[in-house]
Amino acid sequence: MANELRIPAGLIKQRALAANRPRIGLDYRRFGRAGGQHVTEMPEFTAAAQRVVQLHELLMAGTDELLKDGQLVMTGWKTESPFRPDAELEAIQATGAVFAQSIDWFWSTGIGGSFLGNKATIEAVRGTLELFNLLLREERGDTPGILFFGQNMDASYVATALKIMEGKRIGGNVISKSGGTVEPAIAFAILKAAMESSMSPEEVAQRIVAITDAQKGALKQLAGQKGYKTYVVPDNVGGRYSVTCPVGLFSLAVAGIDLKKFIAGARRAEEDVRNQPFNTNIAMLRAVMRYVAHKHMGIKIEVASTGVYDLKSTTAWMQQLGPESEGKNGEGLWISPEYYTEMAHANGQAIQMAERTIMETFLMVDDPGVDVIIPGAGTPVAYLDGKGLNFANQAFIAGLRDAHYEGIVPTMSYVLPRLDAFTMGMLFQYEMNAIALSGLLLGQNPFIQPGVQAYKKIADARSGKPGTEQALAAMQKAEQQLNPNFII
Ligand code: PA5
Repeated sequence: MANELRIPAGLIKQRALAANRPRIGLDYRRFGRAGGQHVTEMPEFTAAAQRVVQLHELLMAGTDELLKDGQLVMTGWKTESPFRPDAELEAIQATGAVFAQSIDWFWSTGIGGSFLGNKATIEAVRGTLELFNLLLREERGDTPGILFFGQNMDASYVATALKIMEGKRIGGNVISKSGGTVEPAIAFAILKAAMESSMSPEEVAQRIVAITDAQKGALKQLAGQKGYKTYVVPDNVGGRYSVTCPVGLFSLAVAGIDLKKFIAGARRAEEDVRNQPFNTNIAMLRAVMRYVAHKHMGIKIEVASTGVYDLKSTTAWMQQLGPESEGKNGEGLWISPEYYTEMAHANGQAIQMAERTIMETFLMVDDPGVDVIIPGAGTPVAYLDGKGLNFANQAFIAGLRDAHYEGIVPTMSYVLPRLDAFTMGMLFQYEMNAIALSGLLLGQNPFIQPGVQAYKKIADARSGKPGTEQALAAMQKAEQQLNPNFII
């Protein structure tokens, strides 16, 4: 017998997904207090349901100060992105495919909205990068490996990632709407220098794509000087609402994801949000439930959970979209991403029994397309012999949902028919609408992020950015006034 692993016949079962495009569902039967009132029975629900319909009209019309960042109405993700012409998508798809052929590793620099949606979509559709990057190129469908930079400033991460790419053909996209966010700018400077030291300027220019503002910003200027291909982040689309614009589209094309299907999913959801009556309108229902939970049921935390490893990054995308949109003026739900069942053995305890200020939204998948059979005979799980891992996983996730509901956690579930480009486009569009609407119900502007801008200013000053000298001096003075006895 050889020493290498051979996968036994019949252990893994893989099926092609059917060609139809089923809709996402929302199961909110458990959104209330177990044994008590369902949210829909609360008078506040009825009042908010009426308001949300009006707020949606406002969102469509773009006629409120709460929709603006400066002078711009920030609803391009709703009015334009889902309706991108096929010709534009085909052009990005083709450029991405040629780009993918020219490289072994694709890097992407960006943070927040210039990072999370891309990673979430690639992982949901192509598989978690932790494993995807370990596959051979042909097993990845002839696409390069993918590494993200600029979402951290950890030297060890960057050094290891550079070593992984050493000696390989590399290229990537640098994403920053403002063109000046420091973390991805540093990552890009490092990658650019590494490429420039080993390739001709023409080769480097062919392997860098810049995705930034149409006119302004340091990145736009640099791209012009160096001759990088550029894509535009539309003025009226903010970072966390940008996965369906070129911010997401180019990376997705390099990863071999079908852009027309992705945008068709977003369009299908957008049409639903516009045309479905309130009681079958996923985004409106979800917005109203989140709002009522936060304002009238004492809920402070929304746990965003999944048992699907490839959706871990989607819960991280939710963690940004909600709090950065709603977390203002002393309000807004904190979103805590949870991956089950790992977390069931950690803060699952607190979800079940700590302060009752938690609601939970599950991301469930009906048909994962692959299954692994449990050869349980003669082991502690003999009762599962011959059953699929999906059966066990779904039983555990449903069990967690029911247990948390019994523990007085209102829960709802997005039910995804499967993980493909169309479904992910749909999910993002429903969720962006839901969050924009629940922000508006709270009276917040969901399209600004003054808290993030404040941190960027402080970080700029601390890292010595020119023009921030006064701010740095003020910070140093404030630091001197701290009590020195409180450091040991
Ligand atoms: O949602 C947002 O607006 C932010 O999270 C931004 O995406 C993030 O700060 C990155 O900004 P930029 O794309 O300008 O580098």
